[in-house]
Amino acid sequence: MIEELKNKSLTELESVKSVDSLEQWRVKYLGRKGELTSILRGIGSLPDNERRLIGSQSNSLRGLLEEQYKKIKPTLEKNLTHDSVDITLPGRTRTKGRLHPITSIIREISEAFSDMGFSIVEGNESELEHYNFDLLNIPKDHPARDQWDTIWLDRPNRDDNLLRTHTSPMQARIMENSKPPIRVIIPGKCYRYEATDATHEWHFHQIEGLVVGKNISFSDLKGTLYELARRIFGPSRKVRFRCDFFPFVEPGVDMSIDWKGEWIEILGAGMVHPKVFEGVGYDPNVYSGFAFGMGPERIAMLRYDIEDIRQFFSNDLRFLSQF
Ligand code: DAH
Repeated sequence: MIEELKNKSLTELESVKSVDSLEQWRVKYLGRKGELTSILRGIGSLPDNERRLIGSQSNSLRGLLEEQYKKIKPTLEKNLTHDSVDITLPGRTRTKGRLHPITSIIREISEAFSDMGFSIVEGNESELEHYNFDLLNIPKDHPARDQWDTIWLDRPNRDDNLLRTHTSPMQARIMENSKPPIRVIIPGKCYRYEATDATHEWHFHQIEGLVVGKNISFSDLKGTLYELARRIFGPSRKVRFRCDFFPFVEPGVDMSIDWKGEWIEILGAGMVHPKVFEGVGYDPNVYSGFAFGMGPERIAMLRYDIEDIRQFFSNDLRFLSQF
C-alpha cells in the first residue's frame, strides 16, 4: 500500500510544472487531509505487528516526499520570475538604426550621376605623393601645395606616403589603368592637417568626377553640373560658375549655390590639364575631358541648414536622429 502510494505520488510529481500544481500535489499527499497523512493518522488503530512496519515505511515516505517538494519548489519559483511571459505587459519598441546624413547625401549624389551614365569607384585613403600631387601638376616645392595641408604617414623607409588630401589622385590612377571613354565618380574620405572650426574639419568627404573622351567640351561640364544641382537642390535653385584656379585643370572654375541670398561654394571643376593627360600617357591632342570635386558635407549643410560641420562627426544622437 505504501509502495503504491510512493509510486503514484512520485509519478505525479514528475508532471508538475508550475508552483500552483505543486501546491495541489502537496495538499493531496502531505496536507492535513492528504493521503499519506491519513495513513499516518490511522497507524494507532493497526494491530501491533503491522503498526511497526507501516509506521516506519510511511514515515520514510513522508521524509522523501517532503524532500522532493523542497527540491522542486525553488526551481519552479525561479521559472516564474525569469522565464514566464507576461502577455499583459506593453511591448517594447525596438530602436532602428539609420544612415548617417553624409552617407545618404553621397548615395543621393551617386544615384544622380549613375542616372547620367557614370560608374562609381572607390580609392585608397592612404596615398602616395606621386598621385596626390605630382601627377596632378602640383610639383614639389610649388606654392600650390600649400593649399592642401598634408598629414604625412610615418613609414619606415619611405617619406612619400600620406593621407589623401583630396579624391583627385584617383583621376590619375583611373586614367593609368583604363582607356577613354571614361565617365566615373569617386566618393571617399580625405584628410587635412588643419585646425577645425564651424566650416572646416580635418577629415571630410569628397566626390570626385572625371569624364574623358573625344570632343568633351566645357558645355558638357556645365550641363552635367547644372543637372546635378537640379537633382539635389530642385529646379529653381540659382547656380553660379566663377573662374578659379586648380593646378590640374585649365580653365578652372568653382560652382556656388544660392543660399538665402548668399553664394556658397560647393565644388571645384575644370577641363583636365594637358600636363595631367601627359603624366598618365594620354595624348592631349586626341582626348579632352573635365573633372570636378565636391564636398558632401557642404551640400548636406546647405540642404539641412546645419551650421557647424563638426556636428557630423560628434556622434551625438540628438543630432543624428533628426535625419
Ligand atoms: N581637389 C580639389 C580640392 O580638394 C577639388 C577639385 C577642384 C577637384 C577642381 C577637381 C577639380 O577634380 O577639377 O580642393
